[in-house]
Amino acid sequence: MAILKCPVCSETIWIDNNSYVCKNRHSFDIAKEGYVNLLSGSHRAGNLIGDNRDMAYSRQSFLSKGYFDALTNQLKICFDGFGFDNSIVLDICCGEGYYSSKLAANFPYQFYGFDISKNMIRIAAKKKSPVTYFVANMAHLPINDSCFDIAFHLFAPFHNDEFSRVIKMDGYLISVIPGRRHLFKLKQIMYENPYENDEQPPVADNFTLIDKIHVSDTITLNNSQDIMSLLKMTPYFYHTSDAGKAKLNALSSLTTEIEFVVLIYKNHK
Ligand SMILES: C[S@@+](CC[C@H](N)C(=O)[O-])C[C@H]1O[C@@H](n2cnc3c(N)ncnc32)[C@H](O)[C@@H]1O
Ligand SMILES: [Zn+2]
Repeated sequence: MAILKCPVCSETIWIDNNSYVCKNRHSFDIAKEGYVNLLSGSHRAGNLIGDNRDMAYSRQSFLSKGYFDALTNQLKICFDGFGFDNSIVLDICCGEGYYSSKLAANFPYQFYGFDISKNMIRIAAKKKSPVTYFVANMAHLPINDSCFDIAFHLFAPFHNDEFSRVIKMDGYLISVIPGRRHLFKLKQIMYENPYENDEQPPVADNFTLIDKIHVSDTITLNNSQDIMSLLKMTPYFYHTSDAGKAKLNALSSLTTEIEFVVLIYKNHK
């Protein structure tokens, strides 16, 4: 089954030498790192090009140390439960590919991952895992209808219609949002009156929620670089005063709760 389609004319694309091509001769080069940019001009979402280089490297540096592996382990449990030998899997807004590369090392499935940020996808592709990575906007996916048995979506914007279109009928969507106490200590250091997260699930009208799993852990970061990398992965990086950031920057260690809500959906269209 052909998975990817041309972002210009929607015809199926295939690999021809070092490019993806369609029958209308639109052509998309495969970069030296191994990914393909399928973000067509009209789908660039204004000036939005996703997370920048610094954020991408911070995410890679932090996740590679295994701080969120309580979540990785829960994803493995889900994949054990839902997957089968030839499952086709999509990592939606995959960032720098930490979770898809880890899962691809453990499961013999066919993995795809995309993000709107070329910086993120470049790092993901450099991992040389058996995942097909491409640059795309989640609101206009260059993917044929009903392709995926499982899709997963971690800490990213949601698109009910487009996600439901590319996942098979009765296929699974695993969506992860921050739990109530996620990174609460980090917030307490930067803010006088920190709020807990509201655990508001996305609007997912085309999906049926079949399970909701809370994952929590306590992690200790023992150096300033990891603490600042964590901050750069969060929206707080943009919304915190310099004084708040300075308080965090002065720490040499930080122990904080982490908490995730794993929402398991089935696609009913
Ligand atoms: C908080 S990061 C999460 C990345 C990854 N899922 C992870 O957990 O490591 C959110 C990601 O969504 C991407 N993103 C934001 N808007 C997007 C869009 N319209 N289409 C595709 N990706 C998008 C960003 O570039 C960023 O990599
Ligand atoms: Zn085309």
